[in-house]
Amino acid sequence: MNGNQQSAKMWAGRFREPLNATFEQWQRSFPFDVRLLAQEVAASKAHAKAIAAAGILTEAELATMVGGLDEVLALSGTDWHATVASAPEAEDIHHFVEMQLTKAIGTLALKLHTGRSRNEQIATDMRLFVRDAIDVTAKGLRAWALALVELAEQAGDAVMPSYTHLQRAEPVLVAHWLLAYVAMIERDIARLADSRRRMNFCPLGSGAVAGATLALDRAIAARELGFDGPTPNSMDATSDRDFMLEFTQCLATMGVHISRFAEELTIYSTAEFGFLDLPEAFSTGSSAMPQKKNPDFTELLRGKSARLVGAATTLAVLMKGLPLAYNKDLQEGQEPVFDAADTAAGTLSILPAFTRSLKFNFVRMKTAATTGYLNAMAAATYLSNNGVPFRKAHEIVGNAVRLGLESGRELDALSLAELQGLSEAFGEDFYAAITLEATLDCHDVIGGTARVRVRTALAEARGRLAESAVTS
Ligand code: ARG
Repeated sequence: MNGNQQSAKMWAGRFREPLNATFEQWQRSFPFDVRLLAQEVAASKAHAKAIAAAGILTEAELATMVGGLDEVLALSGTDWHATVASAPEAEDIHHFVEMQLTKAIGTLALKLHTGRSRNEQIATDMRLFVRDAIDVTAKGLRAWALALVELAEQAGDAVMPSYTHLQRAEPVLVAHWLLAYVAMIERDIARLADSRRRMNFCPLGSGAVAGATLALDRAIAARELGFDGPTPNSMDATSDRDFMLEFTQCLATMGVHISRFAEELTIYSTAEFGFLDLPEAFSTGSSAMPQKKNPDFTELLRGKSARLVGAATTLAVLMKGLPLAYNKDLQEGQEPVFDAADTAAGTLSILPAFTRSLKFNFVRMKTAATTGYLNAMAAATYLSNNGVPFRKAHEIVGNAVRLGLESGRELDALSLAELQGLSEAFGEDFYAAITLEATLDCHDVIGGTARVRVRTALAEARGRLAESAVTS
């Protein structure tokens, strides 16, 4: 028995033997849950108010308790490593705060745990953490979307090929391509906002599993912490980590989008494409090959997204098969959430500046968009507008492309006589229907790449992004 060591713990009463020393260190979460200090203090203050309202603390005791908690936060500073090193005996953030509070205000501190459990505390702290992280991520995403919109505005009527199967398909405006990513980002923001609404309920008052043993007014703590209300079921609230799963899933999806963007830029910056010159400020050289400029930033973006997907996978695997309610496995869910939040914040802190610094080679892009029969679909549309059934029109233009391929000419270099040899539906006005402009503008539908549509889409995207900056 080790009376002193055991009595310092939050649960030592029924134990006679000391913990195995290695196990004791191994099971501690303080080295990583230290970063929940601000959340733990805020939740503890809210709980103190709730138990004061229930008659456990006098007004004066409540004031001392709240003052003490503020002191714990202020004294601990922001150097997490130093804080962890200063309290080798702290098992977790809950234990640490209780110990520090006891130092600050004496045994009154021990009343704070009346009517609560660490199970509801960690669930609350993590909700507070995730809620903040959602807001930070959404802000970063908005900044990136605005940078893309700016870049798209600067691109004006510049064109590039679009690809399907990574084969040239039809010409599109560069702005249209960039707006595709804005659409993804807007969904990412909406997903985060949606999960935020779902998770913004307060577990405090759920107790260890069956609900607090005190007639707590749970609305008090919920209100104090900016939640929309208390959670509805204590067993769920103490073991639910859907909000962490959803958050990491949102980030994983965001990571997939970032990775696709990174991949495209990586390909487009190769000599083979030559669509853009990578900004030197975001590239590195090779120690061996003097001529190299490597796309480290976009490659790392792809790599970082793997961590985001990994976090979501860890959470999903962690939760599946867990019996209700709290299980210590849940402690393992924290680090992936912290890592995903940090990875997302780091990535989004650079993406807007990188995006703004992109310089496209519009000449190369235009050449690629105007060679290789990218106007074939517009040509078929011309025929179908002249009454030829589209299936037939497709075949006729296919024959025209074949003719061009055999003689090394684009469609507009075929003579009218040659074309009319394929179909009588070709007229002199055919050439005007397959210019670059006409090829773009025939996609005159909502979401299409017609110049007027893209201009509208750009203005609308800008409007939505400005609006969401105000409302969140
Ligand atoms: N450090 C623990 C965690 O993160 C806090 C909750 C501990 N609860 C318990 N019954 N051991 O999950």
